[in-house]
Amino acid sequence: MQDASPKAWSGRFSEPVAELVKRYTASVFFDKRLAEFDIQGSLAHAQMLNKVGVLSDADLAAITDGMGKILADIRSENFVWSVDLEDVHMNIEKRLTDLIGDAGKRLHTGRSRNDQVATDIRLWLRHEIDILIELARDLQEALLDLAEANVDTVMPGFTHLQVAQPITFGHHILAYVEMLSRDVERLVDTRKRVNRLPLGAAALAGTSYPIDREYVARQLSFDEVCFNSLDAVSDRDFAIEFTAAAALIMTHLSRLSEELVLWMNPRFGFIDMSDGYCTGSSIMPQKKNPDVPELVRGKTGRVNGHLVALLTLMKGQPLAYNKDNQEDKEPLFDTVDTLTATLRIVADMMRGVVVKPEAMRRAVKQGYATATDLADYLVKKGLPFRDAHEAVALAVRYASEQRKDLEELSMVELGTFSPLIGMDVFTVLTPEGALASRDHIGGTAPRQVKMAIIRARARLEG
Ligand code: ARG
Repeated sequence: MQDASPKAWSGRFSEPVAELVKRYTASVFFDKRLAEFDIQGSLAHAQMLNKVGVLSDADLAAITDGMGKILADIRSENFVWSVDLEDVHMNIEKRLTDLIGDAGKRLHTGRSRNDQVATDIRLWLRHEIDILIELARDLQEALLDLAEANVDTVMPGFTHLQVAQPITFGHHILAYVEMLSRDVERLVDTRKRVNRLPLGAAALAGTSYPIDREYVARQLSFDEVCFNSLDAVSDRDFAIEFTAAAALIMTHLSRLSEELVLWMNPRFGFIDMSDGYCTGSSIMPQKKNPDVPELVRGKTGRVNGHLVALLTLMKGQPLAYNKDNQEDKEPLFDTVDTLTATLRIVADMMRGVVVKPEAMRRAVKQGYATATDLADYLVKKGLPFRDAHEAVALAVRYASEQRKDLEELSMVELGTFSPLIGMDVFTVLTPEGALASRDHIGGTAPRQVKMAIIRARARLEG
């Protein structure tokens, strides 16, 4: 960062801005990240000014040329950013003026940094949302592959983290595919409200130049313009909405991570994870720690924090623009960075998950996971459900005293709990029997899981 000439507005002030204030109010340290989008917005604005007769052809050509050089310098990291010039907008404008003279000074006609920055953030965020949607889809594909390889891998389904009923691992994984598909819907929907053009609102009230906002919107591929100038420069609800969608994605990935941590624990032993996603301990040689899923869980708190920061940033602001809004960027940038990195790494990590079906099956057996199926069996033979529940509860108690699974009890033993129990009971007491019976849309029967995968893949392609 370089200290340069006096500020554009310094004529009104008699003393130089204190160094501390300068650093405190500057945003160039972080908003230089918007540079490419700032240039895009400026070029569209200049083209519009030229079209409506406010900017000459020669000026437009000089601006286009100068911006090309600036963009090249920024990309090659040869651009010199200056704290004195406060933010990305003034850094670029000053450089443009140094390069092309008065034409550079005419660029800001009919606009303000207030509508400029709102436009930049929207352009940037739209770009990032498109990348995130692709990443979320890629993760869905990784999960679908894992589900497909495990359509009939038996595992215990849990409620209260206690073994509940048999499910397939494929079915379990598909739950996350569903979560992610809603997450993608939310991103797609948020994008619609991000993709509106604030430029033309100027400082707050619009401008007296004969601008053509719809033309600028088309140039920048915005769906429409923001219809109220005060709202356009001040509200950051689109950023809040995006961060809320991001917090939900992180929350879903955090839940998945929590399960990976549990499943990897030798007490479960349901999966193994590639060494690359784990670390050892410097003191305990036996350890293999699931660092990556733990960090995903941890980083979720950080994104949730950004959501609260942005909501709080907005809540006390009177119309229209206030400098508070400069604080929207860091939480938003960090949300995007965290989510982008997390989606990438989780997709990669899921591709390396090694499933251990024997351990899953053992856990099903130990947990009396087919007890509901025995109750349902009795109901189908005519017993009211509550009575069936009671009979099976007694059977489970007896079996656990005998240290046996339900299917290991003899016909005679089972018969003591209800005279309705016949030899056909053994088909429902096996995990496979229990799975096959849940054969409706959304159920865990392997047949249904296969169809759910086909549906999910079609949705991804469509
Ligand atoms: N750096 C500012 C921001 O991020 C740009 C807009 C400044 N506008 C102003 N009137 N000071 O919000």
